[in-house]
Amino acid sequence: MEFTDLDSCVKDFSDLGADYKVLEELNREYINKLQEVGELQEKCMKGITHQSYRLGIINRSIKKLKGNAENADVLKNLGKDMDRRKVQLHEMEQTLPKQNGLYLKIILGNVNVSILNKNDKFRYKDEYEKFKLVLSVIGFVMAVVNLFTNLRVLELSFMFLLVWYYCTLTIRESILKVNGSRIKGWWRLHHFISTVVSGVLLIWPNTRTWYEFRQQFMWNMSLCVVQYLQFRYQQGCLYRLKALGERHNMDITIEGFHSWMWRGLSFLLPFLYVGYIYQLYNAYTLFQLSFHPESTWQVPVLCGLFFVLFLGNTVTTSLVIPQKFGERVAIIKFRMLTMLQIDLAARNHVNALSSESSQPKKNE
Ligand code: COA
Repeated sequence: MEFTDLDSCVKDFSDLGADYKVLEELNREYINKLQEVGELQEKCMKGITHQSYRLGIINRSIKKLKGNAENADVLKNLGKDMDRRKVQLHEMEQTLPKQNGLYLKIILGNVNVSILNKNDKFRYKDEYEKFKLVLSVIGFVMAVVNLFTNLRVLELSFMFLLVWYYCTLTIRESILKVNGSRIKGWWRLHHFISTVVSGVLLIWPNTRTWYEFRQQFMWNMSLCVVQYLQFRYQQGCLYRLKALGERHNMDITIEGFHSWMWRGLSFLLPFLYVGYIYQLYNAYTLFQLSFHPESTWQVPVLCGLFFVLFLGNTVTTSLVIPQKFGERVAIIKFRMLTMLQIDLAARNHVNALSSESSQPKKNE
């Protein structure tokens, strides 16, 4: 509601002054709390560094003392406790701001990209997975249109989209890494290499060699199906881990998650290997085209890059299987240990009860 005279405006402004005083106080309190949070963060970071330093010393000492068979049990228990402490420290680190890596520093400058809230981290990762899926569907549609048409502008738009997409992925993945993601170095490098591949494709002149490779490359985008399956798998992992509450922590309920994960992996892996064979086939075709009289430097370079992608993907994905199997064995061991501990605790409890009942009661 607007005022009709100036006096009402002046009066309302002076009334608003009282509200402003309250707001000013609130803002001061907020700034103080922010300062307090900053100080607490710094103290926690120092505490974690101190803990890690002392754990390092204990670890080195344990290694030297390992030869002594007498202390085997103590050393084993200490080792387990130290592993647990490392996990706890890692969890603590996830709640504190972290420095950007070199790549992010170059691209974004020294801006803080740490996400300190677990729900926000989850949302960011979820959004990243959806972004990949949406862009692969757009890429698939563009590739299909390119398959049935022959418009240079459309071709170049498609390549440009790929350059932008992979570039964006590298930035998003660096942010995920700062926020504690365990994404392997290869997958990040894979997206850097894919950016270069798309860049080289973008500047490949439309010679005869390009037209010989064009159809095969556009068919590449049928791997969008693989991308969809990956999305379903990663999304499943993400939501199940969120439901478990404590990420990366060993817990008996994780066993259920692992059996789901194995089913997901066994379904996904054959499709992934088909994709890798297609990459090898791309490298082979480009290798043959490199002997073509109209071949330009883009042909052998792309041949090498597709081969590197094939090799890196195959080796990394193949290494995931034994690694996951190791995790499974660790969980079974952990479960047995927990059951033994429960059993031991129950026995101690029964012993305590029976010794209590065998002792004459004070009042008697
Ligand atoms: N791209 C981005 N992030 C990946 C990834 C990939 N290809 N593979 C794994 N990650 C992430 C996971 O989401 C997880 O993140 P988090 O720590 O934030 O939760 C982290 O890396 C650790 O994952 P890990 O436990 O090692 O593997 P996984 O069970 O999540 O996935 C595979 C294993 C094999 C299914 C997965 O690596 C994959 O799909 N690889 C194939 C990728 C590919 O080949 N693409 C080209 C297709 S032709």
